[in-house]
Amino acid sequence: MFYRFSDYGPPSYPFIGCIIAFYNNRYRLLDWYTDLLAKSPTQTIVVQRLGARRTIVTANPENIEHILKTNFNNFPKGKPFTEILGDLLGSGIFNVDGDLWHTQRKLASHGFTTKSLREFVLVALEDEVGTRLLPMLEKAAKTSEVIDLQEVLKRFAFDVVCKFSLGIDPACLEPSNVHAISPLAKAFDIASEISARRGAAPVSLVWKIKRIFCISSEQQLKEAIGDIHEFVTEIIKNKKKAIQETNNEEKNADLLTQLILAGRDESFIRDMVISFIMAGKDTTSAAMTWLFWLLSRHPHIEKQLADEVKKTSNRTTKRFIEYEGLKEMRLLKACLCEGMRLYPPVAWDSKHALNNDTLPDGTMVRAGDRVTYFPYGMGRMETLWGKNCFEFKPDRWFVEPDKEGGELRNVCPYKFPVFQGGPRICLGKEMAFLQMKYLVGSVLDQFEIKPVGSGQPVFVPLLTAHMAGGLKVMVQPRSPR
Ligand code: HEM
Repeated sequence: MFYRFSDYGPPSYPFIGCIIAFYNNRYRLLDWYTDLLAKSPTQTIVVQRLGARRTIVTANPENIEHILKTNFNNFPKGKPFTEILGDLLGSGIFNVDGDLWHTQRKLASHGFTTKSLREFVLVALEDEVGTRLLPMLEKAAKTSEVIDLQEVLKRFAFDVVCKFSLGIDPACLEPSNVHAISPLAKAFDIASEISARRGAAPVSLVWKIKRIFCISSEQQLKEAIGDIHEFVTEIIKNKKKAIQETNNEEKNADLLTQLILAGRDESFIRDMVISFIMAGKDTTSAAMTWLFWLLSRHPHIEKQLADEVKKTSNRTTKRFIEYEGLKEMRLLKACLCEGMRLYPPVAWDSKHALNNDTLPDGTMVRAGDRVTYFPYGMGRMETLWGKNCFEFKPDRWFVEPDKEGGELRNVCPYKFPVFQGGPRICLGKEMAFLQMKYLVGSVLDQFEIKPVGSGQPVFVPLLTAHMAGGLKVMVQPRSPR
């Protein structure tokens, strides 16, 4: 006889909790949780299993608003989260709470003003798209080569986030580097994958013991983190020297320059820029990979999008489109949101309760509980998005779906918490949209992307979600309209 901790959680037994059901669903956790949440009247379940802390998983916007905003101070990331990423991120913004977080948040916000997006990020995008991405796609189109678009987009995003955070160009997308990978990017890939596996381990004791003895994956992680620290420390030193030599007072520069000019010490700066690289390196590429795949399945929407791009873009200058033009691309924004609704780059995210609390739907939270909000499941909730919630329908993002070029809906961040919400909402949200619109627009303007396989790709939710095996595509010049 089983019982449930809430009426709608997984089947559970005394002492072992839901470990049997968990084990049976271990390869489909995302869909398992989604099914359970859809059956719960308030889209919230309590999961308890032997060896893991009590976890409340919610897809309920009111609960999420409570956790992320109303009672923000009671729901920090907490030690169980920060110890998983602590070796890699140290005290960087992504991995701290309280005053340490607040100071970094305030400091970093200056890098994300409209002025800085226009003058710094757009220049980096123009360069990366114009001199690397488009020539590469042109070559692939000419030679009918199959390329892994996910890998291309990852390299693109890594170059851009390094230019923004460190003021250096790792040139991962440079044609001469296309069969190699920059040692910095490689170290980041290894470190983020192993750190994510720590988080996904059913029992944390295993990785903790491996860490004590520095063996197997933990040895690899230690080496990768050592490499990252060494590279970044060297970059900081060189940048300091360059600033001294040129007496650079440029306030609208990369994040690293701003931090050095603000007089911060070396380990603070190192941890902070590492967090930014982690935050920006695979998120936009994941969103764009899934969008290109979804568009290939919906050619009529792809065509409408190409028409919007053609109407809005600027063909007379090297820059494909200006900042104001990007804002005009509403269908593109709707498609990006719709793609991320179904395939969110951060599939789930957790906080840990400091004190006992009650969520708005009545779920009791105990001090120490993990509280997980779940964008992947939320995108698949009929209660939130209607009967067609599994379909790719960008027009749901418009106030009047049938009116061409109409206004976009103002969707509540707690119904669509893909960028989180509240005081810790993603700092790079505007930059991410800028980057994704610029890239997707530039590509669709000139090319058609044709995936070579016809099956449903697999969504893998590590720290950032990705497509298992990449997205293999052929590129064709877009036929004239
Ligand atoms: C589609 C792209 C992106 C998505 C979906 C996304 C999503 C998120 C989410 C869910 C969080 C909260 C994570 C947590 O607290 O555990 C976050 C935080 C953050 N993101 Fe993004 N992100 C994206 C792109 C970027 C980019 C390009 C940058 C800039 C380099 C960036 C910078 C940050 C930073 C600094 C934080 C930490 C904010 C804080 O703790 O106060 N993100 N993002």
